[in-house]
Amino acid sequence: MGQEKDLFADYAGQVDEVSHLLFTKNGTGFDFNEAFLGREADLNVGFPGLTVSADFTGDGLDEVALFEEMLYTPNTVPHFSRSIIRINRSRGDHFLPNGSWFSMADSSLDFQHVDFSVAGDYNQDGYSDIALFYNDPDTDLLTVYVLQSEGSGFSDPLVWYTCDRNDFNFTALKFACAGDFNGNGKPDIAVFYNYFGTTPDTRQSVFLFESGGSSFSLLPHVYDATKDTGRLYLVLDDRLIWHLKPIAEEIGWNYVQLLSWCKPNFSGKGRINGDWNFMNEYILLFRKGKRSMMLTSDLTTTHSWFKETAPQTNFKKDYLKKVHPAQMPVNLIRRWISRTPGQVILDPFCGAGSVCIAARDMGRDYIGIELSEEYCKLAEERLALQ
Ligand SMILES: C[S@@+](CC[C@H](N)C(=O)[O-])C[C@H]1O[C@@H](n2cnc3c(N)ncnc32)[C@H](O)[C@@H]1O
Repeated sequence: MGQEKDLFADYAGQVDEVSHLLFTKNGTGFDFNEAFLGREADLNVGFPGLTVSADFTGDGLDEVALFEEMLYTPNTVPHFSRSIIRINRSRGDHFLPNGSWFSMADSSLDFQHVDFSVAGDYNQDGYSDIALFYNDPDTDLLTVYVLQSEGSGFSDPLVWYTCDRNDFNFTALKFACAGDFNGNGKPDIAVFYNYFGTTPDTRQSVFLFESGGSSFSLLPHVYDATKDTGRLYLVLDDRLIWHLKPIAEEIGWNYVQLLSWCKPNFSGKGRINGDWNFMNEYILLFRKGKRSMMLTSDLTTTHSWFKETAPQTNFKKDYLKKVHPAQMPVNLIRRWISRTPGQVILDPFCGAGSVCIAARDMGRDYIGIELSEEYCKLAEERLALQ
């Protein structure tokens, strides 16, 4: 049997009055009582879909977090609004308003752009936190912010996960729910993804955001799986490096340096709009554990930039041809591997398998993980070609 829980509901009753109803189990069904009655003006449930309950104070009883946008109008010019989270504290059979635990200028965090809020003690400090799936249509990035509870207030929003909207589309998320799905004692978030794009992008999946204590990312798993002195190459575009560096460092990775892959044949697609043409990608290089030497190599220079043409469909050799939209040149990866200590190379987003091919060429063992069956097949075909 699962845990017994009460149910909570907001009820807009008589004019100007709002109540919280508490449904408690009586053995055969639910009884409900009016656990809070307030004037609508005092209890502004601005975003009912974001309401979450959890033990934010750590006192063993769950509180209710209400999201609202507060507009300051009469005497302020220009008018401005703030995003507020109010906490209603449970006293067992009734709620007491406990004031605002979070308040921030709307321009910094606008609840209009929050698709889901999910509560859980993500940092395992005994106080439940709130994860916000943030989807501002005016930006390219999608972000999961966590408001960490400190027992009597929430922290400023901390970035726990961020991605490019072309890689993982939050608008395709239908709902999210909390639970310890992998059984490791830490709260996760399951999201239901229903994306109808053009083949092979049509997907219906359940994705799991696993808490690593300070982020929702694969990086803690990759860190655990890496031997001391092992290296992590994180290939990113310029907008993501700022977010991912502190997340990786919090997990324990030691930052080494920023590398750059220059693509002289890039055909000029992307964020042009009169800015500089976007013809390189960045690589954050990290090390696990103490300082250790890189290997000597006759395949590459020691420059921190790498000039390598991006794969194209007209390339002669089959295994170098472009078959994946974000394919990397095998030679670029060979150059990195040639200087990197360690026998096993892991690529958890292996696409058409360029990293696996390069690892095999360099006499290393490799593990490639890929979501799309179609790309897995492509990787196997390319590996068989040489
Ligand atoms: C940038 S591409 C990698 C391309 C690869 N380096 C190559 O040269 O072919 C990223 C890949 O990660 C895959 N991917 C995205 N989310 C994933 C997940 N959660 N688990 C495994 N693969 C994922 C995508 O399908 C895509 O093929």
